[in-house]
Amino acid sequence: MNGDTLTVIDSRTGKEAILPIITGTDGPPVVDIAKLSKELGLFTLDPGFRSTASCRSRITFIDGDKGVLLYRGYPIDQLAEKSSFVEVCYLLKNGELPTKEQYTKYEKIVTEHTMVHEQLLNSFKGYRRDAHPMAIMVGVVGALSAFYHDSLDIHNPRHREVSSFRLIAKIPTIAAASYKYSVGQPFVYPKNDLSYTENFLRMLFKVPSQRFKMSPVLIRAMDQILILHADHEQNASTSTVRLAGSSQANPFAAISAGIGALWGPAHGGANEAVLNMLDEIGDVSNVGEFVKRAKDPKDPFRLMGFGHRVYKNYDPRAKVLKQACHDVLSELGQHDDPKFKLALALEKIATEDEYFVEKKLYPNVDFYSGIIQSAIGIPTNMFTVIFAVARTIGWITQWDEMIEGGEAIGRPRQLYTGEGFRDYVHISQRE
Ligand code: ACO
Repeated sequence: MNGDTLTVIDSRTGKEAILPIITGTDGPPVVDIAKLSKELGLFTLDPGFRSTASCRSRITFIDGDKGVLLYRGYPIDQLAEKSSFVEVCYLLKNGELPTKEQYTKYEKIVTEHTMVHEQLLNSFKGYRRDAHPMAIMVGVVGALSAFYHDSLDIHNPRHREVSSFRLIAKIPTIAAASYKYSVGQPFVYPKNDLSYTENFLRMLFKVPSQRFKMSPVLIRAMDQILILHADHEQNASTSTVRLAGSSQANPFAAISAGIGALWGPAHGGANEAVLNMLDEIGDVSNVGEFVKRAKDPKDPFRLMGFGHRVYKNYDPRAKVLKQACHDVLSELGQHDDPKFKLALALEKIATEDEYFVEKKLYPNVDFYSGIIQSAIGIPTNMFTVIFAVARTIGWITQWDEMIEGGEAIGRPRQLYTGEGFRDYVHISQRE
């Protein structure tokens, strides 16, 4: 705190409250309004949290105007280029990059927890065959608390650490199983001499009758996708995890809630929506018509993969993925991929269009990630699941930070706009 304040005067009563202005390491300062209700009997109204910081956090920083994303201070483009997903997990969780020794130990622990309880795999059979894999994820991740209840004391740091390792290690196994189940193929067990990401891809694509072989370029692209999605400060799903966790619910329950929030097309479901939109547009010649529709306030159609609550500049993750898209498609000999061409044309037209320029709507992370995943062979309904695999480290780190900080239960207030007090009328007397 630096002594700066904001004075609020209630014009009805003349009463005033002097509120501290707090400055963080970077980003806009915040007004601490905690004593507003006590001193003035007022609450604030900010649906959608457009002007509200929900917590203090030391994990991830976004400068939306400049298009900057930092994990523990390190820029996302450097991490995507030079690091690996497991190293990024260590960084997010521990706050520093690991030494070689720390990394080896960390990777070994993650690797040794990749198997899930056999009974958990049996529980998949209770779902309908045509269930969306995200529906299975919501259920199965929540169900982890039924299997690993030896470490659910959230006030015990060792229990929190064990749950965190279990989540990071088992989430690819569960994600791959949710896919295998939906396509009627046998589950593939983890193979722990492979890297985290190759292991995940193998569990997704291996069938008993064939050897699994995938180009390192594709494995690297998937690792980058995981790095880029690992955390993104207080987005909808992370805020959900924090809110659910603030009731002292166990981490598996809190993260299952986060998976539910991630599912929506305005959040993690957007990359699936991007491919559906590209299918709908069909051809470059139709781009103009769809851009026109996106601009029409009476038309609910929006350009999926465009716009962001925080980024008012090019999403730095989209930049990395655009390049990864080129790499993957050229590795596969699909330079002329019609969806990529269509996406490039759409980006060009939209980013030159006055409406998009004025509203600062740029491609976001979801715009290119679907095209890459599709080229790798991942079906559209698995895109959000991949996102959940990546974001698990962010969720668990944010949850841990909240529990460690001893935050009170999250309990927003409201501006009530319903009926005032009225007496019950018997049904025989109602008109
Ligand atoms: N296409 C057309 N117009 C858009 C778009 C879009 N994709 N996004 C925003 N706008 C317009 C809005 O209609 C609004 O116009 P108005 O000022 O005339 O009312 C203006 O831009 C501001 O948009 P908001 O909806 O207020 O922005 P908000 O921060 O609430 O929403 C969101 C952000 C949800 C991401 C929005 O841009 C959107 O729906 N994009 C498409 C879905 C998408 O790609 N989601 C992924 C987000 S990234 C992630 O979750 C990983």
